[in-house]
Amino acid sequence: MKSGVTPTGVERSLGDDDFIVTKTDAKGRILYANRIFIALSGFSEAELLGSQHNIIRHPDMPRSVFKLLWDTIATGQEFIGYVKNMAKDGSYYWVLATVTPDRDAQHNISGYTSVRRKPRATAVKAATVLYKDMLAAEGRAGARDAIDAGAAVLNQALNGKSYEQFVLAL
Ligand SMILES: Cc1cc2nc3c(=O)[nH]c(=O)nc-3n(C[C@H](O)[C@H](O)[C@H](O)COP(=O)(O)O)c2cc1C
Repeated sequence: MKSGVTPTGVERSLGDDDFIVTKTDAKGRILYANRIFIALSGFSEAELLGSQHNIIRHPDMPRSVFKLLWDTIATGQEFIGYVKNMAKDGSYYWVLATVTPDRDAQHNISGYTSVRRKPRATAVKAATVLYKDMLAAEGRAGARDAIDAGAAVLNQALNGKSYEQFVLAL
């Protein structure tokens, strides 16, 4: 855990009409966080600005999910996925995130924007089971092979669907 925060198992959730928004530079450093992000994360704006999003990383999240996120956005595509985040007080909250690259006038990637909303309860249930399996596979494989092992579990779950089709059908 990057933040040194211990998970409490207490769940918090977004309101139905809430959107969490952050913007980063090209390295992922937070440049902007909206009020809902600040409130839900429990960190102050000063603590968030300049930090990486791993400040709210939950230990239940498989590494291979973040590898897929970064591989996708770094090649200019949009990433959609379920993320379990951890607030400063150790509580957790699930989001359905859409992360997109921002481009400068020369069309180079200048940063990223993430918009998250409240996921459906059935999707959270499915993602919880899937991520548990992925995390277990990563743990069994050891640090060097963890990403491949987690990705293999995900690929099996896709069952022929594209990643995006699969996520949106959860
Ligand atoms: C725009 C953007 C939004 C992100 N949002 C989150 C997030 O909400 N939660 C999270 O754990 N990681 C998020 N990440 C991924 C983090 O940068 C990081 O890869 C992840 O927390 C794993 O950190 P670690 O590899 O240092 O353990 C985001 C990345 C970007 C570029």
